[in-house]
Amino acid sequence: MPGFEVFGKEEREAIAEIFELNGGIIFAHGFDAMRNDVYRVREYEHAFSNTMNAKYGQAVSSGTAAIKVALKALGVGPGDEVITQAYTFVATVEAIFETGATPVIVDIDDTLNMDPVALKSAITSDTRVIIPVHMMGEAADMDAIMTIAKEHDLFVMEDTAQALGASFKGKSLGTIGDVGAFSTDAGKTLNTGEGGIVLTNNEQLYINARAYHDHGHEYSSSIGRGQEAALCRGFNYRMTEIHAAIGLAQLKKLDTIIENQRANKFKLMEGLKDMGLPFRRSLDPNGDIGDTIVFYLPDRDRTAAFVSAMTEKELGTKNLPDAIRWHFSKHWGHMLDDHPLYGDKVTTSWSKSADILERSIALPVMVKMSDDRIEHTIETLHSIAKKTL
Ligand SMILES: Cc1ncc(COP(=O)(O)O)c(C=O)c1O
Repeated sequence: MPGFEVFGKEEREAIAEIFELNGGIIFAHGFDAMRNDVYRVREYEHAFSNTMNAKYGQAVSSGTAAIKVALKALGVGPGDEVITQAYTFVATVEAIFETGATPVIVDIDDTLNMDPVALKSAITSDTRVIIPVHMMGEAADMDAIMTIAKEHDLFVMEDTAQALGASFKGKSLGTIGDVGAFSTDAGKTLNTGEGGIVLTNNEQLYINARAYHDHGHEYSSSIGRGQEAALCRGFNYRMTEIHAAIGLAQLKKLDTIIENQRANKFKLMEGLKDMGLPFRRSLDPNGDIGDTIVFYLPDRDRTAAFVSAMTEKELGTKNLPDAIRWHFSKHWGHMLDDHPLYGDKVTTSWSKSADILERSIALPVMVKMSDDRIEHTIETLHSIAKKTL
């Protein structure tokens, strides 16, 4: 919960300041004569996109909304197929369904991100977009994915909800494909309670995203909102000034968050490396935001024993395995069972992903971890490994 861990007076003052400066205009648009030139959502969009080195940013109300808005900006709709991966949060697939397109869900590999081989074999003449999801702070194989996308003339939309601030070969995740979607919900690197942002370097995609997230509004600066034209059938996924003010305060802490997490992850990994268990394969350790350590057990039974020993010792895990139900498509019969592509195959598909995920333990790395706590975690895990392996 990095963003939450560093909440302080900066966030509280940022909210109070809006009320002090303009009497509390917390809507991002209009009221120009009254608002004393305070436009926090606009500022946040500029600051966030500058931080990630992207040309355009469109703030929205959640990460789920960001994925949908990004897909709508790409023109995705009924009849299209969108390829994503079996290990992600349900939101990725929900957002694809929301556009009317069909989600095509492929296996991951031992990076815990999209398996490029599985991606390649899932492409059909209806495929429009690939959504790699950078899970738990680390990059998917963007070299392979971008090459495949180019070969087949497909868009790439990066779901960067869990990797805000991470990079791949020096480029911020979420800016390598055509468009990127970020979340700033309560568990993410930056925390605005709810919130998301769409980044792109393509002006037309930005115009499409901006219009769709706000009822189709053209955003013409020369006339008021009431007289503006509508560019498309849209919806309301707007962010409020309060969320953006918190986001601006949080953004200033991004470097500290990542620096601390990475330092703590390094200490933990050093202490855990002789435990005899392989770690998640990393494609760019320098770009990792360091919020998670994943290690693999030899089989499911020993994973279960290991996790129950961790629970006994009050050591928590991240979404593997405690919230796997929300993060692995095998558990999503509620939204896939009635789709002709899946039918009764949901629980038996993605066996490669199942084998990896059901042997994975994800250890959360906090921004604030004392050396004593790190030492205690290392010792506890070593003693569990001795007993269960
Ligand atoms: C991979 C992934 N995509 C999308 C989302 C959705 O973000 P939000 O909770 O802001 O709607 C999440 C949130 O957990 C996520 O982990």
